[in-house]
Amino acid sequence: MRFTTIWSVLSLLAPLAVEASVLAIDYGADFMKASLMKPGVPFDVLLNKDSKRKIPSVVGWKKSDRVFGGDAFNLASRFPSDVFLDVKLLQAVPYDSDAVSFYTKISTADVTETARKTVALRQSDGKEWSAEELIAMQFAYIKDLAESFAQEKVRDVIVTVPPYYSQFERDAVVDAIEISGLKTLALINDGTAVAVNYAMTRNFNGPKPEYHIVYDAGASAIRATVVGFSNVKDKKEGAGTQISVAGVGWDRDVGGLELDRRLREILAKAFEEKHKKDVKKDKKGMMKLWKEANRIKAILSANTEAVSTVESLAYDIDFKSKVSRATFEKACEDLKPKFVQPIYDALNAAGLDLDNITSLIFTGGSTRTPMIQAAVKAAVGEDKLAYNVNADEAAVLGAALQGASLSRQFKTKNIKVNDVGVYDVQATYAAAATSPNAKPRSITTLIFPAGSKVGTKKTLTFKRKDDFTISLDYRNSVAPGFPTRLLEADIVGVAEAITNLTERGAIDPVVKATLTLSDSGFVSVSDAVVFGEIKDDSITGKLKGFFAGSSSTEETSTGSAENTPPRETPETSESASASTTTSSSSAAPEPTPVKKEKEEKKAPVENTIALTVDVRFTTIAPMTIAQKQESRKRLRAVDQEEAIKARREEARNTFESYLYRLRDLLDDENRETPFKKCSRETEREAIAVKLDDSFQWLFERGDLAETSQFLDKRIALETLEKPIVHRYKEIEAFPEALNNSQKWNWHTRMFLTEARQNLTAEIEADLPSKWTGDELDALETTLKEHESWLNEWVEKQRSVKSYEDPVIETTEMKARAKVLETQLYKLVKRKIPKAKKPKAKKAAEEDAKATETAEGAKPTASPPPPEQGEKTTEERKHDEL
Ligand SMILES: *[C@@H]1O[C@H](CO)[C@@H](O)[C@H](O)[C@H]1NC(C)=O
Ligand SMILES: *[C@@H]1O[C@H](CO)[C@@H](O)[C@H](O)[C@H]1NC(C)=O
Ligand SMILES: *[C@@H]1O[C@H](CO)[C@@H](O)[C@H](O)[C@H]1NC(C)=O
Ligand SMILES: *[C@@H]1O[C@H](CO)[C@@H](O)[C@H](O)[C@H]1NC(C)=O
Repeated sequence: MRFTTIWSVLSLLAPLAVEASVLAIDYGADFMKASLMKPGVPFDVLLNKDSKRKIPSVVGWKKSDRVFGGDAFNLASRFPSDVFLDVKLLQAVPYDSDAVSFYTKISTADVTETARKTVALRQSDGKEWSAEELIAMQFAYIKDLAESFAQEKVRDVIVTVPPYYSQFERDAVVDAIEISGLKTLALINDGTAVAVNYAMTRNFNGPKPEYHIVYDAGASAIRATVVGFSNVKDKKEGAGTQISVAGVGWDRDVGGLELDRRLREILAKAFEEKHKKDVKKDKKGMMKLWKEANRIKAILSANTEAVSTVESLAYDIDFKSKVSRATFEKACEDLKPKFVQPIYDALNAAGLDLDNITSLIFTGGSTRTPMIQAAVKAAVGEDKLAYNVNADEAAVLGAALQGASLSRQFKTKNIKVNDVGVYDVQATYAAAATSPNAKPRSITTLIFPAGSKVGTKKTLTFKRKDDFTISLDYRNSVAPGFPTRLLEADIVGVAEAITNLTERGAIDPVVKATLTLSDSGFVSVSDAVVFGEIKDDSITGKLKGFFAGSSSTEETSTGSAENTPPRETPETSESASASTTTSSSSAAPEPTPVKKEKEEKKAPVENTIALTVDVRFTTIAPMTIAQKQESRKRLRAVDQEEAIKARREEARNTFESYLYRLRDLLDDENRETPFKKCSRETEREAIAVKLDDSFQWLFERGDLAETSQFLDKRIALETLEKPIVHRYKEIEAFPEALNNSQKWNWHTRMFLTEARQNLTAEIEADLPSKWTGDELDALETTLKEHESWLNEWVEKQRSVKSYEDPVIETTEMKARAKVLETQLYKLVKRKIPKAKKPKAKKAAEEDAKATETAEGAKPTASPPPPEQGEKTTEERKHDEL
């Protein structure tokens, strides 16, 4: 199944540009999966260094070494206070919320409160890391994997989030992305990502939607997403698949982690009953039991019984106990309705019945648990169950495809996605005072009811004369302990703008504020202006100036709005100003303004003035730029420390293996090795003494030494070794160097003999010559000098012992031979002077030969043999035709 999927998608993909790749991360509480979309690279799940497709979402420290994924998970029971699991559960949660009490039940980590009233975890050495920082480290780890796989920088990322994630939690995800050095392309709801993956390889009939439920049982929650798939025709882009989320249901209190927790309770109780000791008082024991519960749950998915054995679980006691599936299921009896309620909630939100549903698509690791499968089967009927997507990978692959289509770097299958917000969002503001002494009355309007399409803007119109504040709230708390207030936006500069327009003749100017629900599910006050009709004398102009109520809303349903959260990021300015909308990096078409505004824009009169929107976060604030920079600095410092450590390790290893290599050279007493042949006893002794020192230093001080000390010590030894190495390298290179020198002697002599004969003949025949006698004499002098130098020193070298330094260096031999060669070729390539009456053919031949040599074809022997020259001449003639 996987291979057909991948290949059929590949055939749909063609790179449009090559500059950037898109990373997708499906970040779950237990596991994370990643995928990289890069032109020319097969589309698949990214593997980690152990070739694992699923990477545990864990970061931890083994003393001062930071570890990730499976390595970290395996260390959890040894370092229960330094290995952090399930950090996803802590995203944006207030310190005193239920989410934190649940976390402390399943985790042994030390939970503390941040200055932002959210949660940090404390290492055993006291160092504290916010949830955002710990997740950013994991994102950075994925980024590194992707970069070493892609061999290029990776920046843009799309990350999956549960559809029920509030704005606070979505902000925490984006903060972690930014701290990690990545850039948010978009967030995508995980059920929607699975739907994209499902649609990748399927076609749907016509415009009437075919409904499926994506049922996702994850580690932290269960959610169901009702999705309609239809085939739509677009004039510009042709036929495509439309994915519309119709309804979402969820339960944040039930998931794989709660099952693990209950199974661990069973095991802990069994331990207590048997050994009369409380394992819960032992952090390491609880961590061991947590891993064990996870293992037993997997066994009980396939078997009705499992035997749990943990060596030295706690108090030095080896634990052994039998657990049956029945016991486990009995302990989860109360959860059973919760497994399926999200399905009913989703159908209800969509306004559909089970009859309208074609299939229920299972995803998420916990769908392997039999009691969950059974509950779902009982609820929807066996014939509707579909196991046709990869339960672990559908979300990340769908997210990657969606990321690719947003980045517009790729040509992908035409899939359009309509998602929805799942919470009621309302706006509150103080009504304009009717009289100076009236009590301020506050007005609340539902702006984006649950089920509103994302990528929507709404405009609120106010008759105001002064600055005022719009607050955005969730109608109900999204989870126990979470606040409802999202943000407060001060609309600033109203009075001046009204005066300005009024002075220019506007009648009853009003304030218009634009509220956005972005594609990634963020709400914001994205824009505010004062708008007024400039007075014209016609009756219609006067009539147009009237506005009925004190405020009214108009909805602008646009194809899409910005993907990135509408708040400060290092890239945009500090204040969420009115220009946020226009400067958004939206890949979607610009929103179409309502018709009226379009006409107004065409009108020559300036009748809108932009206002400043100052946004304040009074509850769980997203991190400020300064806070993110600070976190980024902390993470960079860790990276740098690790890099220094890695370099030091490498220097140490190189030094150590150098010492062993040298020791082997010295030890090889019985063989006549080149090293031995070329060294004196005294030299070897000197090296041996220094080598012993170095070994001793390495063992005594190696753990504390600096990178540079390893280098210095190595250089000190190399200085002793080098002359010896040089001797045998020279002995090896000598024969070839000698051969080379002799070759040029021989070529030069051959040339001189022939050249002198020709010169004599030419003088006799009164023909022009290429050389003069003097030139040939000069070459002969050089040749003789070279020959005698060579003879003399080669003779001297013969009596040099192998353990003595050579008296003649091969580099010098080569240099001297080169001098001779150069002088020889200056004459060889000489052209024949223009003859008084040259024989045409011969002249042409000589010419061609000269050209060839001049062009730098390096001859291997003295004057090229005549046949070769002629052949070349033929070729050239052909070329010229
Ligand atoms: C759902 O099914 C009911 C009855 O089975 C039908 O009347 C209704 O039209 C269907 N709704 C949709 C949206 O298909
Ligand atoms: C009105 O605003 C425009 C720009 O929006 C500015 O150029 C002009 O000076 C202002 N006029 C007054 C009277 O404030
Ligand atoms: C010298 O060079 C010639 C030709 O390049 C080769 O045949 C011969 O084996 C070489 N002799 C030595 C000692 O390298
Ligand atoms: C000497 O003359 C012959 C015949 O013309 C020619 O082939 C040869 O290349 C000449 N030798 C040199 C060294 O120029």
